[in-house]
Amino acid sequence: MSAVADGSQEPMFQAWDVHKSFGHVEVLKGIDMSVARGEVVCLLGPSGSGKSTFLRCINHLEKFDRGEMWVGGDRVGYRPHGDKLKELNEREVAVRRSGIGMVFQGFNLFAHRTALENVMEGPMVVRREKRSIVERRARALLDRVGLADRVDNYPSQLSGGQQQRVAIARALAMQPDLMLFDEPTSALDPELVGDVLAVMRQLADDGMTMIVVTHELGFAREVADRVYFMDGGVVVESGPPAEVLERPREARTQAFLSKVLA
Ligand SMILES: Nc1ncnc2c1ncn2[C@@H]1O[C@H](COP(=O)(O)OP(=O)(O)O)[C@@H](O)[C@H]1O
Ligand SMILES: [Mg+2]
Repeated sequence: MSAVADGSQEPMFQAWDVHKSFGHVEVLKGIDMSVARGEVVCLLGPSGSGKSTFLRCINHLEKFDRGEMWVGGDRVGYRPHGDKLKELNEREVAVRRSGIGMVFQGFNLFAHRTALENVMEGPMVVRREKRSIVERRARALLDRVGLADRVDNYPSQLSGGQQQRVAIARALAMQPDLMLFDEPTSALDPELVGDVLAVMRQLADDGMTMIVVTHELGFAREVADRVYFMDGGVVVESGPPAEVLERPREARTQAFLSKVLA
């Protein structure tokens, strides 16, 4: 983390006028966003509106074409070099990415490793931390997501909801400043969604800064500090959940909400 970020009141995440095209199709058309430390933002919007692309740009999984993004005082994709900016190399990208937790729709666990080994992998391999310290932290995290009795299970022995909670513990093992969730419950059987949302809610209560792409309006209403509604690569409207979800101003938001609620 840069000196600027330390102890300052600046947002944990900021985006200004972020544009991204694939070929000549522009999928992000100038996104602005600001997320304070400890704040939870939910991103809603129809399929194809650019939500995943935006998260992937934050985490250096995609390059964006125009605009700026900052995470904890570091400019995404660049580092200062004298009075200029230098593009990050692969190793620098890996370091930055390791400070941001990302949880996807699919759980992406290592199939041949136990829950505990999955959670320990990042800190051991990427950070080269000491095994005993990493193991203690991993067990505590698995306990925190309600899986203390599942540490030695392989992914195939776990339900989708349990696998997703392992994936959350795995992201937290890197002690991230920011957590990104991309429809973390969309692939789950309905009866397993609640346990995952409960873990995310607890994480929010503990003060984690989170950007959550979700169609779970109940979660957004109860947990989000602010909701952003995206459509066609732009933020159509944003504000407190009570405003955006209960009294949407824009016709596109109203249409989307009535579809999701139907
Ligand atoms: N790697 C890619 N190459 C080309 N087009 C892409 C790629 N990734 C996403 N897109 C397109 O960008 C648009 C936004 O996609 P996405 O960010 O996944 O939206 P959302 O997550 O809101 O459903 C879609 O039209 C999608 O087809
Ligand atoms: Mg998506």
